Amino acid sequence: MIDLSKLAEPGSIEESLLEKIDLKRLPRHIAIIMDGNGRWAKSRHLPRVEGHRAGITSVREAVETAARLELPVITLYAFSVENWKRPRYEIATLMMLLKEYLRKELASLMSNNIRFVPIGRVDGLDPSVVRELRYAEEQTSRNTGLLFQIALNYGGRAEIVDTVNRIMALLREREMSDAVIDESFFADHLYTANVDDPDLLIRTSGEMRVSNFLLWQIAYAEIHVNKVLWPDFRRRHLFEAIVDFQSRDRRFGGVEENDSEMFIEADENHA
Ligand code: IPE
Ligand code: IPE
Ligand code: MG
Repeated sequence: MIDLSKLAEPGSIEESLLEKIDLKRLPRHIAIIMDGNGRWAKSRHLPRVEGHRAGITSVREAVETAARLELPVITLYAFSVENWKRPRYEIATLMMLLKEYLRKELASLMSNNIRFVPIGRVDGLDPSVVRELRYAEEQTSRNTGLLFQIALNYGGRAEIVDTVNRIMALLREREMSDAVIDESFFADHLYTANVDDPDLLIRTSGEMRVSNFLLWQIAYAEIHVNKVLWPDFRRRHLFEAIVDFQSRDRRFGGVEENDSEMFIEADENHA
């Protein structure tokens, strides 16, 4: 049972937003492109890395909120394969902050029954980072609540290419090199095998692009872009995104039921 008292103070903005949310129609998987840390720091005349440091509070709040809403999955985009183009000092600080976050947060992930899984070319990260990531993954592997995926050294195209290579190796091994595969077999070999696709994709800082995130999985995700910079992203912004999500008419390429009857009538008239 969702405990509403843990999600909003009486009389708060969060409470009024929560009243607009239909708890029976929550998204099952929210994916977030956390963007705007650098601009947040710049606007305060601080070095970019201070934006990353401040963004950790937003990570904590987003994950905790997802757990309290009893969402099945949240995926956060933390470091892309393209982010290696950034200055060395910025990358080193990001990795240091990640290790610090994992060490500090493990106890709370455990007490909130959260399962932590890194996705991406994880083994391409510094060995000291990989060790911490694998440790947190292993420690939380038997938790049964929220699945918290963090995308690190992640690229959507890299994932698709890695999947193709994995499948080719598998088919070679089974001596089935001429097999024809289908979408569901392909999806079962992505980094996110066995995880439902995101139904809500959020991007902060107002940028209207996908930046190589979960390209396969977001085929039918609803997209919500908020101008707020990631370090300022709070529970109320997540609630706003869910309210927006619930206002959407998701058709998946079909038509609404009422409209489809109109089509049948039109067809009959035509015949
Ligand atoms: C997002 O913030 C964090 C990462 C990509 C690691 P940015 O660092 O991209 O911030 P901006 O976009 O430069 O403001
Ligand atoms: C996307 O943000 C990557 C992450 C949030 C980790 P970027 O800031 O790297 O994306 P672009 O460069 O604006 O497209
Ligand atoms: Mg950015």
